[in-house]
Amino acid sequence: MRAPRNLVPQTDVRLGRIVRLLIAHATVVVSGTKIAEEIGTSRSEVWRLVQQLRKLGVDIAGHPSTGYSLKAMPDLLLPEMLAPQLQGTIFAKHLHHYYKIGSTNTAAMDAAGSGAPEGSVFLAEEQTAGRGRGASQWHSERSSGIYCSVLLRPALPPSDVLVITLAAGLAVHSAIQEIDSRVVPDLKWPNDVLIKGKKVCGILTEMNAEITRVRYVVVGIGLNVNQSSFPADLQSIATSLRLTTGTEWSRVELCAALLKSLDREYRSLKENPEASNSILRRFQERSSSVQGRQVEVEENADLKGVTEGLDARGFLQVRTAQGVRTVLSGTVRLS
Ligand code: BTN
Repeated sequence: MRAPRNLVPQTDVRLGRIVRLLIAHATVVVSGTKIAEEIGTSRSEVWRLVQQLRKLGVDIAGHPSTGYSLKAMPDLLLPEMLAPQLQGTIFAKHLHHYYKIGSTNTAAMDAAGSGAPEGSVFLAEEQTAGRGRGASQWHSERSSGIYCSVLLRPALPPSDVLVITLAAGLAVHSAIQEIDSRVVPDLKWPNDVLIKGKKVCGILTEMNAEITRVRYVVVGIGLNVNQSSFPADLQSIATSLRLTTGTEWSRVELCAALLKSLDREYRSLKENPEASNSILRRFQERSSSVQGRQVEVEENADLKGVTEGLDARGFLQVRTAQGVRTVLSGTVRLS
């Protein structure tokens, strides 16, 4: 048996229960005694948990001798905030939240190896070792972005898994548009979402498979939501939704829209033999670069040419001086 690598504790479930209670009584002061009774603990423990919530950024007023009230609706990706909106999806029942973790993808891969069910979701307020494709890191500032990994167990051969990454890109696209239709994201094959040429989202799909059968897939989504700036080395290539629109976005609302959209895409992939074609078609429609664009594939020095759409499994076709080539891996640089 493999020892679990991810020993970071999940966020104390009582924090979510306190938030839910305060939301349910948003206009009044809730006494420490009532909270203590509801969550089955002492008043002093409630005080300690409220301090933790404040550290997480939840704005709670403490009223001497009467209790607590919410000053503003918290935007934390707690299961209690998301689950009610995810009823009926495969993501409603196994939501895991971390205040701080190395990487949600690592947590999801570990959990998958230990038998976690399909539809498990791993969310973090902050990642200390967020991973991107190749050896890259994912900048994961606390409570600004959405850092989310979902565990799927599709009945597919490994060669067909790319379509799931493309479906995740579509889900991000439609979630953003559902919240603000003025924002027009551009999908960049295979795993980026851009706004005005800058990256707003990256997707890291990892899997464990036999030669002919996938055991599990983890789709990790990093979405820049409320960052107001980026470190110097990212400034020219990264953007956030807040930088795009000039307003704060609700991460809870966006994350729920994203998971609902991903649920729809994944269900139809499982149930409808035509779904894969629909994903490829819609991806091409929402990408300015999969057709007729001069590209160069990094880690593949010879591959330069003009994009010619996707093949039946979702791989990028590029017309080079030597004929049409299929890009199986590597980063596509747009010229
Ligand atoms: C890329 O663009 O290279 C992919 C970035 C993927 C980042 C997300 S954030 C949530 C999940 N956990 C990780 O460590 N990585 C993915």
